[in-house]
Amino acid sequence: MKRLLFRKRPAVFLDRDGTIIEDVGALGDPADIRVFPDTGRALGKLSKKYDLFVVSNQGAVSNGILTITQVNEVNRTLTEKLAAQGITIKEWYVCPHDRKDGCQCIKPSSYFLQKAAKAYAIDLKRSFFIGDHPHDAYTGKEAGVFGMYLFSGHGARHLQELDPAVPVFPGILQAADWILKHPHPARDLAKAVRAGARALKKGGLTAFPTETVYGLGADALDSKAAEKIFKAKERPFNDPLISHVASKKDVTRLVKKLSSEAEALIDRFWPGPLTLVMEKSSIVPDVITAGTKTVAVRMPSHPVALDLIRRAGCPVAAPSANLFGRTSPTCAEHVRAQLEGKYDVLIDGGYCRVGVESTVLSLVGKLPRILRPGGISQEEIEAVIGPCLSNTGDGSPIETSDGNKDHQSPGMLPSHYAPKTPFFLVAKLPVEDAGTKCAGIILGPKECPPESPFTGELRVLSPSSDLKEAAANLYRVIQELDKQGLEKIYAVRMPHEGIGIAMNDRLTRAAEKSVE
Ligand code: TXA
Ligand code: MG
Repeated sequence: MKRLLFRKRPAVFLDRDGTIIEDVGALGDPADIRVFPDTGRALGKLSKKYDLFVVSNQGAVSNGILTITQVNEVNRTLTEKLAAQGITIKEWYVCPHDRKDGCQCIKPSSYFLQKAAKAYAIDLKRSFFIGDHPHDAYTGKEAGVFGMYLFSGHGARHLQELDPAVPVFPGILQAADWILKHPHPARDLAKAVRAGARALKKGGLTAFPTETVYGLGADALDSKAAEKIFKAKERPFNDPLISHVASKKDVTRLVKKLSSEAEALIDRFWPGPLTLVMEKSSIVPDVITAGTKTVAVRMPSHPVALDLIRRAGCPVAAPSANLFGRTSPTCAEHVRAQLEGKYDVLIDGGYCRVGVESTVLSLVGKLPRILRPGGISQEEIEAVIGPCLSNTGDGSPIETSDGNKDHQSPGMLPSHYAPKTPFFLVAKLPVEDAGTKCAGIILGPKECPPESPFTGELRVLSPSSDLKEAAANLYRVIQELDKQGLEKIYAVRMPHEGIGIAMNDRLTRAAEKSVE
């Protein structure tokens, strides 16, 4: 007799506030529910293959701000709203306690996941947890549940605490699409990294995620391999490449000497989005440095990048994985769209957390000089090594300590990072173009108040006007709009502080025109 194989089902566990609906604080009135616009589509796709559960902490009940009846009423209304879109949530699990109550059900405890596993025969090893708080991403980890982190709610605020190994996504829809492509993410990623390292060892090209943007990598000590990068990107040979390393020790081979300043910066900011330009050692081939005497080095913090470099056993030269002069990729799909067929392996590690490139700091002049603003700000650097200069971006040579005139970052061209659609950087959204097919990119809702006559499509980079979240969304939003056949894209200048400085730098270079 044929035996029927009973197979457990995989599930997707979801946080509620900030993940499927806007996080408005203690939500007690169903009238205040704001379902994210992508939630229906995302859950619709997922529900074809996964059982869906919501697991939420509602500490406001323990603190007397909400009653459990109010919470249940909100969840009942949400159930109806989702059911109207054909989506079933198998069960709503609520922890009504505060952390000080010492309960067993508060996230990241896997209490409710174990309950679901028993009640619905769920295979936790093939399941996912999606949420906008680090505790969401860790819930059920020990049982094999794969955690995913969203920027959509509190995401940007707690990013510093989040384990670098957890992949991040701008919202629920991107997370859902990634799950459907990677049903066995841990295994698939490990396999892709091994294939990527093999390709690098053979002199091939591997595109990989870093915390800033995706890179297109080759063995930095193999000039033939590095030349392939220039060909794939259509990049001129006078634009040198950053060599990526996985340890402080790896740097010492690439440079003449490591100054005390360099050491202090490395100890403070590595791994992370800071690239240091130093005098190169003889093993670094000319093609990497565009024939100059300096080499740019950085240690990325993305664990996939570090694992790849370690396995390849060589420093990895990698520019951003886009065609020369165009917008940098912050997810694997962006790399595919520009460079499909031009690399040997592409490792899909989700979205980049920082979203703009590393800060490039030259240590070869009399004073340190920022050649490109990026993920680490001038103030942060100055707090470690004292005053440094910042490039005007005019391409004028730098006077070095030994009296040599050295180049600035040759890659810092006035036009760069550009979409195909005419792109304008503006102080505020214009209204004279109301008739044209246009779109506006703004930091937060207050840049385009409801009474604004702007009629184009509006893309808000961060509903809470958080610059870090905005930076992580910037290139994605530009690339999405660029596919829509618009006549114009307007971006409103960011506040000139923190990572906003790097964003304004990229927006200025991407723009045909800056309008004050
Ligand atoms: O975040 C990043 O830095 C990303 C990821 C992949 O690590 N990489 C990146 O690389 O943005 P790329 O090639 O797009 O930009 C490297 C910048 C260019 O402006 C280049 O001119 C500059 O660094 N650079 C590289 N080597 C240099 C050197 N020896 N001296 C001065 N500038 C250098
Ligand atoms: Mg949340």
